[in-house]
Amino acid sequence: MTERTLVIVKPDGVQRGKTGDIIRRIERKGYCLVALEMVQATETILREHYAELVEKSFFPEIVSYMTESPVVAIIIEGENVVEGWRSLMGTTMPTQAAPGTVRGDFGRDWPGNAVKNVVHGSDSPASAEREIAIWFPNLA
Ligand code: CDP
Ligand code: MG
Repeated sequence: MTERTLVIVKPDGVQRGKTGDIIRRIERKGYCLVALEMVQATETILREHYAELVEKSFFPEIVSYMTESPVVAIIIEGENVVEGWRSLMGTTMPTQAAPGTVRGDFGRDWPGNAVKNVVHGSDSPASAEREIAIWFPNLA
């Protein structure tokens, strides 16, 4: 079944000029771009988006990180794109993420408590639809 997922180029990815490389990898893989918007995240939107992390001690650091500068929110589409993008994106910790993945190739550890890892990807089709509704209310 064709599905959609939410990609976010996070502030470190935008600031370091990686947006084009990331979109190129998505298109090279064969996924379709459905919608794309540069947007300044707010604490309100992040509390919804990261609802399962709001109670964590590091949540304030995530908010500081994710509001440092605008992000690029992207909906992409294709068969099994949720799993496929998680695979292209790489694992959470950028030092451990495999070379060849976005996080492995463009990410690294930086001073501070937030894990700056260049991109977001939804973790299931249900999460994808929930997150798309947050970032693109007109396309839910
Ligand atoms: O993004 P992913 O699904 O790989 O990881 P997550 O466990 O859902 O965490 C969401 C995001 O929170 C991560 O991508 C990190 O940017 C951030 N995070 C953090 O700053 N510190 C942690 N200990 C865990 C996650
Ligand atoms: Mg996650």
